Amino acid sequence: MIVIMGAAGATGGATLRSLAALGAPTRALSRDPARLAAALDGPTLARTAILPADAADPVSLRAAFHGARQLFLTMANGPHQVRHELNAIEAAVDCGLEHVVKVSAPAAEPDSPVAVSRGHHLVEERLRASGLTATVLRPYAFMQKLLLLAPGIAAGVVHGAMGRARCNYVDARDVGDAAAAVLTRPEPAGGTYPLTGGRAYSHPELTALLSELLGRPIRYLDLGPSGLHAHLVGRAGMPDWLARHVVEIQQLATGRPETPDDTAFRRLTGRAPRTLEAFLRENLHHFR
Ligand SMILES: NC(=O)c1ccc[n+]([C@@H]2O[C@H](COP(=O)([O-])OP(=O)(O)OC[C@H]3O[C@@H](n4cnc5c(N)ncnc54)[C@H](OP(=O)(O)O)[C@@H]3O)[C@@H](O)[C@H]2O)c1
Repeated sequence: MIVIMGAAGATGGATLRSLAALGAPTRALSRDPARLAAALDGPTLARTAILPADAADPVSLRAAFHGARQLFLTMANGPHQVRHELNAIEAAVDCGLEHVVKVSAPAAEPDSPVAVSRGHHLVEERLRASGLTATVLRPYAFMQKLLLLAPGIAAGVVHGAMGRARCNYVDARDVGDAAAAVLTRPEPAGGTYPLTGGRAYSHPELTALLSELLGRPIRYLDLGPSGLHAHLVGRAGMPDWLARHVVEIQQLATGRPETPDDTAFRRLTGRAPRTLEAFLRENLHHFR
């Protein structure tokens, strides 16, 4: 039995759907099981047991993990993310699970310039020291997050702070397919896998592609780090911590040039990753 945390989210939902398509039995967790059930398609729902669990509540985690063998661990970013993920690892050890697949992030290092990645480093270290088989997926920026730019794109502009630096994108559905491949191996092997698409894009390249697909000009406006932070908080209504995170990610891409590396993805799934162009074509209605 495979337990999926964050099953209502981007990577947890994708992993759940991929596993259901492979016929693997899963247990999907949510703080709001009714909302999760309503969000699932019929075939996925038919193969899934949905249980309530809150990572802030270790008792609920133990009840949800009981009798399972593997855990897919992904958690929304937020001020309590590290504590919540450590609670899940502790419960996995207590319940005798064998294998945890954790969604981490690039630059998960102790002195990372990205605060969220420093948190991921801490959780990765704890997971590797837990005695469980540890698989760590380090995806780059999810294509799905580009949907947050839709209001700006509808008005003809993308705001950012990474100049002409390129950023790796990966479709969150590919993270789910990679996770499902790892979780359905006969024996858990562990390891750390960076996940990217086949091509990195700068913001000017992204807006050029959007202009071509939409048939109207979309321009890129570089606001610099403090300008982007002010824009995200003041105009887009983002919480301060999340706006800082977005700026840090863009500064990371500026400071450490990102090149695509789909080796791990191809090795795990046996196919090429989805492309950004295909994702944008599929979602053009959001940007009109
Ligand atoms: N966004 C990116 O481009 C990107 C890139 C690389 C890595 N990452 C990493 O990917 C991870 C996020 O993945 P995602 O986008 O799939 O997450 P997400 O969609 O933002 O959220 C995943 C789930 O976290 C669950 N959650 C939040 N608090 C919880 C709690 N107290 N107990 C139990 N569940 C809780 C929520 O489930 P319920 O509400 O149903 O309980 C939610 O569905 C992050 O750790 C991030 O650092 C993101």
